[in-house]
Amino acid sequence: MTIDERLSVTEFPLPAIREVNLALHPTGVSLGLGELRDFTPDKKIIEALTKSLNEGGVNYCPNGGLMELREAVADAQKKEDGYSYDADNVVITIGVQNAIYATIKTLAKLGAKRVLIPEVNFGIYKKIPAEFGLEVITYKLTADHGIDTYWLSRNVSHNDILILNSPANPTGRVLSSIEMKNISDVLQNRLTSGYVISDEIYGKLIYEGENPGSFSKYFDRTIMVNGISKSGAVAGLRVGWAVTRNKALARAIVSNNASIISAPPTANQYAAIPIVRGETASTIERYNQHLKQNRDKVMAYLDELKIPYVKPTGSFYLFAGLDKVIKGDVKDFCITTAKKKNGVVVIPGIAFGDSGKVRISLAVSDIDEGMQRFVKAVKNNRQ
Ligand SMILES: Cc1ncc(COP(=O)(O)O)c(C=O)c1O
Repeated sequence: MTIDERLSVTEFPLPAIREVNLALHPTGVSLGLGELRDFTPDKKIIEALTKSLNEGGVNYCPNGGLMELREAVADAQKKEDGYSYDADNVVITIGVQNAIYATIKTLAKLGAKRVLIPEVNFGIYKKIPAEFGLEVITYKLTADHGIDTYWLSRNVSHNDILILNSPANPTGRVLSSIEMKNISDVLQNRLTSGYVISDEIYGKLIYEGENPGSFSKYFDRTIMVNGISKSGAVAGLRVGWAVTRNKALARAIVSNNASIISAPPTANQYAAIPIVRGETASTIERYNQHLKQNRDKVMAYLDELKIPYVKPTGSFYLFAGLDKVIKGDVKDFCITTAKKKNGVVVIPGIAFGDSGKVRISLAVSDIDEGMQRFVKAVKNNRQ
């Protein structure tokens, strides 16, 4: 077969989340976005970005990222877990997705064979390892979306890569410090040469209860990935990073990412510095208050319809069970509801590995309008 012949019979789908968002009718409301699009970024971020354009922001930076940002990330991580990081422990990337990609590419080259991901997951956790021929295994979650440590204690082997995500997409679940400690206790004797990749992109978006901090506090062999897409409400700037205590591994990730991206965008990294230094904390606090209010509103709408869910306390999603409430397939329901005049987008759970549920975003200014449309659509399709 020629390339063109193969192209005509091969599917290269966009992520399922995009597919449903693209189906949205012009009069529709989206409760489907994975970003704080309706939230204004802190002024300090925009000022740093603008200023940088006259101060070298339009030039290449080193492959591993701008030294100032790497140092700021190292300092922030040191405050988290007390380890003495410096810029050489940090790799700046084009968003967290690129950090995960470059990390897994590197670990695959170093002989990793298996990646363990949560059974309900951000879809990319499955796709990236598959691109490098790694085996992907889903680990069990508890009924309240926590991690089944018994499963881990029976199944993790020494060379595995374990992906953790707290606060989680799509469940909004935040692991407590006790849960993190329990997980690390299980891993101490089992994950002796592999690594945890801890995706902490929603780490600052915890609107209720304790913030347990980074998993690196509990487990040394943690590669922490984080970025500014969510906490800065600037997903389009595409800045993320990976941090590891192993400097040789950090260097290897830089090398493996250089052949994909050369270097991250310079100006945008200046925009990340105030966020990493904690200078935008009061803005993030406002986001959290807003997210909590929206969470409470969404729960009230769902309770009225007797739709089941586990109460989220972080990130900005709620994962609700629709399969026992509506007629037919949940994904079909989502696409039909998105396409309708005055419709609404919610993301079908199949995008995250659970076909009976939908993900509702709380990061919307007009949550009432969106939820009223959702309620109407559910009532019209009730079993
Ligand atoms: C859990 C999780 N990790 C990573 C990403 C990707 O982040 P970025 O936009 O920084 O690439 C997302 C985006 O939705 C996410 O939800």
